Amino acid sequence: MRISFDEACRRLKVGDVVGIPTETVYGLAAALNQEAAIEKIFSLKGRPPKNPLIIHLPHPNDLHHFASELTYDVEKLAKAFWPGPLTLVFPIDKQTIPERARAGLPTAAFRIPNHPLTLKVLESTGPLVMPSANLSGRPSATNPEHVETDFGLDFPVLDGGTCKHGLESTILYFAEDHWQIIRLGAIPAESFEPILGYLPDVSINGSTTPLCPGQLYKHYSPKARLILNKNAVNSSEIVIGFSNRTYPLAKRVFVLGHSSSPEQAAANLYSVLRQLDSEGIEEANIDIVIPQNGLWNTILERLSKAAASHK
Ligand code: TXA
Ligand code: MG
Repeated sequence: MRISFDEACRRLKVGDVVGIPTETVYGLAAALNQEAAIEKIFSLKGRPPKNPLIIHLPHPNDLHHFASELTYDVEKLAKAFWPGPLTLVFPIDKQTIPERARAGLPTAAFRIPNHPLTLKVLESTGPLVMPSANLSGRPSATNPEHVETDFGLDFPVLDGGTCKHGLESTILYFAEDHWQIIRLGAIPAESFEPILGYLPDVSINGSTTPLCPGQLYKHYSPKARLILNKNAVNSSEIVIGFSNRTYPLAKRVFVLGHSSSPEQAAANLYSVLRQLDSEGIEEANIDIVIPQNGLWNTILERLSKAAASHK
């Protein structure tokens, strides 16, 4: 159910959960000071309680409410990338954030989204927690229809159009004296080097206690089985591929965009994965003859995770 800007703000202030657009993906929003609404986010999504939420703020100055001393380089990163698809995780003053939102951790995740409507909502409501607006484990939502598919036609959504990036924010985590990437995202890893003076390590896999708790769980997965296929041009099955390549034997082709544009592929990725499910498709081959750098790395990581849960 589409609701107006005023209605979205009103509902958030009285403790409702509302679907909100951002430039990355749609979020399921609750006010940071409404603990029952935060609880409701976990039950609506079927989200494991140990998976903390990102706190979205209208302005970088608001960070001072949560940490008496700001971690090294936060201001530099904020200046370079906010508003935008960057989330920063660092130690906070614990009493300033409900335990449920940070899943009991001594750190919290912050982001200032770059979407005019979202910023206006934040100005009116104050800090909002917002996980991606999808059922836990499923592909994120990049338009209002996706939110309604997961939470029902009566679920309140503020319509901000289709998300520009279509991939979640990049998450940086401060450990000891340097920043690490704990989730690849819409900002490529290489973009941080000129700001930080070093290329942050990427630590996203392998451990049973990853720095980003969300990495432990199934993610981004359609019901369809996905096959990462380096020879998809010769596949005689259903193919997810690129507009400038031909798949002469394929039963059907879903197009991510031109193979020279990772931005296009990112923006279409979750829509295509969701389309497989809405058409009841059981298996699809993804053309993964793509570069291994920049935003393509994020796309490959999402595809690997989406495919892995069916193994
Ligand atoms: O682009 C985005 O970041 C979107 C939009 C709506 O802003 N939000 C989003 O939220 O992707 P979510 O909940 O789907 O993913 C947040 C990730 C989770 O994997 C969670 O484990 C991690 O952030 N996270 C949150 N707080 C953390 C913390 N204190 N330490 C480490 N990871 C944290
Ligand atoms: Mg998510």
